[in-house]
Amino acid sequence: MSDLQNQHGIERLAAHTTLRLGGPVGRFVRAAAPAEIVAAVRAEDEAEQPVLVLGGGSNLVVADAGFSGTVVALTPPAEPVRVEAGSHPGRVQVTVAAGVEWDALVAQAVAEGWVGIEALSGIPGTVGATPVQNVGAYGQEVAQTISAVRVWDRRERRELTVANDACGFGYRSSRFKAERYDDAGGRHTVLAVTFTFARGTTSAPVAYTELARTLGIELGATAPAAEVRAAVLGLRAGKGMVLDPGDHDTWSAGSFFTNPIVAPEALPAGAPSYPQPDGTVKTSAAWLIDRAGFAKGYRVESGRAGLSTKHTLALTNRGAASAEDLLALAREIRDGVRARFGITLVNEPVLLGCRL
Ligand code: EPU
Repeated sequence: MSDLQNQHGIERLAAHTTLRLGGPVGRFVRAAAPAEIVAAVRAEDEAEQPVLVLGGGSNLVVADAGFSGTVVALTPPAEPVRVEAGSHPGRVQVTVAAGVEWDALVAQAVAEGWVGIEALSGIPGTVGATPVQNVGAYGQEVAQTISAVRVWDRRERRELTVANDACGFGYRSSRFKAERYDDAGGRHTVLAVTFTFARGTTSAPVAYTELARTLGIELGATAPAAEVRAAVLGLRAGKGMVLDPGDHDTWSAGSFFTNPIVAPEALPAGAPSYPQPDGTVKTSAAWLIDRAGFAKGYRVESGRAGLSTKHTLALTNRGAASAEDLLALAREIRDGVRARFGITLVNEPVLLGCRL
């Protein structure tokens, strides 16, 4: 870590992001319990100082110039997970602090017999970040199991509980992502997330073709939840989507672009097509990038940033990249796809202090 911090001990965001990018921060504090998070954010807001609430840093691209405000880094509190016996015997309600590592919760859920997030195994980051972009993979998304989100409303300066149907969940989106406070952060700071899980050791119906095939079952069938977790971890590892410090293919922010949703007539011939309820179609950003001439492993001229050798949609730091190297790659790909197909890819990670 010494190469990521300067000799004066100033924190650099490169030490706290999975892309290992981002310059120095003004001030760095840690917060665990909801009251600590609220106090830290509130103090900065009242002083009109910019604040960045940082979870796992797995969905964040920070400029080389860094962030002059205060970073509030979330850590798990003393009581990270609270289980409430609900009125329904087949279900369990579990409230999890924002700073808990997401995959630790998934592992615990599978071990305890809480069903509904097993396909979300191996995703980096913290629990509090999951409602913000409605994290999803392999046929599940957190909107299916989240019953409520406890937040600090920075505009109204009060805590409130937002029920699932008021979260505005969509594909990789929510009101927590859409409603901004300033450039560095959303209006709502997530403090805790309440999930309602089915009880059992059998997974939810498997809704992703590649996962069903790996498990040797039909799409829509179930399997032991522990097997689903193992299969997802295997699939993700094969795509470089499980963090491994020794493997530059995993120095990414996961998928860099969302899968575009277009009118059926705008779909390029041969492109994957997932029909949406409203008549539009979702297509594959990875496919578009590949067909626009950017194969797995493609690099910018310096060689410092490039596409993962395992998945076209992951933009990666090959070890010595700057944020500018990575952004140059992202722009080249966005422009190349637009020129070839007339579709403009939209970044999925949050950009701090920089733009495409
Ligand atoms: N494809 C390619 N080249 C590749 C990879 C994929 O052409 O290198 C095409 C294929 O047609 C393939 C299709 O893309 O059938 C889908 O690929 P994949 O199953 O890998 O999914 P994805 O659409 O690329 C999405 C999510 C991932 C999530 C996976 C699995 C988005 C933006 N990404 O990726 O989420 O893990 O599905 O469910 O929705 C993330 O959000 O950071 C993320 C990693």
